[in-house]
Parts: sequence; structure tokens; C-alpha cells
Amino acid sequence: MSLLPQLIEQIKEEFQNRYEAVPSWVVAAPGRVNLIGEHTDYNDGFVLPMAIDRYTVIAAAPAEGPKANLFSVNKNESAEIIIDGIVNPDEKVEWSSYVQGTVSCCREEGFISRPFNALIHSTVPLGGGLSSSASLEVATATLVERISGKKFEPVAKALLCQKAEHLFAKMPCGIMDQFIATMGVEGQAMLLDCRSKKMRMVPLTDANIAILIVNSNVQHELTGSNYAERRDQCRQAAEILGVPSLRDANLLRLEKAKDALGDVLYRRAKHVITENFRAGALADMLALADWESCGRHMYASHESLRDDYEVSCDELDLLVNIAKSIGMEEGVYGSRMTGGGFGGCTVSLVRAGRAVAIGEAIKTRYMEKTGIEPTVFSTKPSQGAMVIL
Ligand code: GLA
Repeated sequence: MSLLPQLIEQIKEEFQNRYEAVPSWVVAAPGRVNLIGEHTDYNDGFVLPMAIDRYTVIAAAPAEGPKANLFSVNKNESAEIIIDGIVNPDEKVEWSSYVQGTVSCCREEGFISRPFNALIHSTVPLGGGLSSSASLEVATATLVERISGKKFEPVAKALLCQKAEHLFAKMPCGIMDQFIATMGVEGQAMLLDCRSKKMRMVPLTDANIAILIVNSNVQHELTGSNYAERRDQCRQAAEILGVPSLRDANLLRLEKAKDALGDVLYRRAKHVITENFRAGALADMLALADWESCGRHMYASHESLRDDYEVSCDELDLLVNIAKSIGMEEGVYGSRMTGGGFGGCTVSLVRAGRAVAIGEAIKTRYMEKTGIEPTVFSTKPSQGAMVIL
């Protein structure tokens, strides 16, 4: 059963309790899991994410001016944001920065909000690598559309949310998270060409297959600076290879430039080149219901992220190793880290009838080794941003 209807009823009640009024507007945007194509979006490459049935929901109603009042149920905190005039991003990034940033970027595009009270409740684990921030940005942009009575073209909306994240959350992310949160479709994963912005939807509705997410519940520090460093290394590698971006490189060219690149840049570029190939291949294999091949690509992606791109960590490696040791016979086709890395989640492709048992086995063995309780859930490709009221 989808968790969204429950969450909507709950947030309406919470809104009423806090603001003593009924909400005039309710909007939602999902988190995402990336099936494959990691650290390829900012290299003009290919990604294959799907929206998950975990949402950030915002309920809101007009308020007396001049500001907007926010309350986050997850943080149990209030904040005020400015809705008119030019706003300079704060030094310190808070949860409200995502809302402030998106509202400000919308305003620059002529989408004007009036003062409002809003309550925000999210079932996307915060900071867990499932794009809780993009879901908050996209939900906010959807709220502004609702308030202003105007609609963005979907690609423009996703790019605006990315801009808000760059400027106000100071995270130089690619376009994947905001695209899938805006344009996700129920029952389908999205193969996105991050250069042309063309999408190919890949049906993923086989009842025998489940997408299992395991949150390691660790997030190592320096995630942000490591991300920026990887982006910069990719730029340097592309420059040495003489291509506009790593999307345009191939393995032959890479081998020829091995010495010029040096070990680190060589491995970074190798990951991106091979990962782009794997993303396209996985989309084809999913369409053919060739789960074994899908699984092989997922394991290969993880190894490449671990050894060449170096964005995994012990906990993620452990989760993937446990999944792998359960094996195909017992229902695990493939597993890999998902998202930026250095903690967060793994995504596994498993036989649906075995999903609960597999989840339990991974949980027990991970806890034995780390003492940390992981969060495990199955999900399915879900709808992107939506207006509920
Ligand atoms: C984060 C970023 C995305 C993408 C992934 C890695 O989630 O927000 O744009 O780069 O990392 O694939």
C-alpha cells in the first residue's frame, strides 16, 4: 500500500493543530533511488533513477504578511523565510535554506508567492542519500506554482531547483535528483541523458521483482567537499583527454592518455566512462527482464565506485557484500551503493517473494558487524511531484 494517502491525512491534521485553519494547498514531491549511473550526471552522462514512494508533503494556507512561516515536523522547528526582494544565501545551511532558496529562485522567474503558513512533513529519510533535499526543493517549487497560479515547464522547474541547491545549500549537485523528483512516473524508471535532457522511461512493474533499499544509517563527514573534489577531478581529466566532458571520452582514448592522466584521474575517468555504458545497458536489461545481467551491472557499478571513484565506505561495502553472499539462488540479483556515497543507502534488485527475508538477513548481519541498526524497506517506481489540493 502506498504510504502517501496516510501522510496526507496526517499532515492536514498537523496543519490544523498548528495554525488553527485548514490548509488551502497541499503538494508533494518524492525522494529517489538511483538504480545505476552514479556520478555521471555532472559529466553530461546517463543516469537511471526512479522516484520512490517516500514523499515530502507541504500543506499551506495564506497568512498575514510580510513573510512565510514554516514548521518542519521532522525537525520540530519553525523558521521564517522572506518572500519578496532579493535574498542573499546565508552562510549556514539550515533545512529552511532549501525552501528559501527555491522560493527566491522562483521569484526571479516571476513566480511570486504571497505570505503563507506552511507545515512540512517528509517520509524521505533526511540526509540518507535518497534526495530528501531535492524532494523539499521540488515540493516547494510546486507549492509556489500552486500559490502563483502559474506552471513551470518541467525541465525548467528541475533546473531551477538545482540552482537553489547550488546557491542556497552550497552543494554543486548534478541534475538527476531534481529531474526525477519533478518528472518521475509510477511504474517506470527514467533513463536520462543529462546532456540533451532527453528521457526514456523504462517500465519496472514485474510483480516478481522488488527494489530493496537498505539505509546504512551512517553519513561520513566531508561528503560535500569530496563531491566538489570529484567534480573537479572529472573536469581536469576531460581537459587532459581533450574532450568537452567525460561523456565524450572512451576507453581507447583513456588508455592512450593513461600516463598523462596519472593514477587518480585515470581511475576517476574510467569509472565515468564505464558507468555511462552500464546505465544504458541496465535500462536495456530491465526492459528485457534479464535480472541476472542487471545484477551483474549493479555489482560492477559498486566495484567501480569503490575502487576507481572511491566514494564508497566500509558500511556500504559490507551491505553489498552481505547481499552478494545471500546470492542469486536465494533471490538477490544485484546490489550497489546509491547516491553520492560516503554513507547513505544501497539499492538491491531482489525476488519479490524473498524481499522480507533478505531484508531481515542483511539487517541481522550488518548489526552483528557494526552495531548499527540499518533501515530496510522495499519500494516501487512512484509518481513525481504532484498537487494534492
Ligand atoms: C548526489 C547529487 C546528484 C548525483 C549523485 C551521484 O545525489 O545530488 O546530482 O551527482 O550525487 O550520482
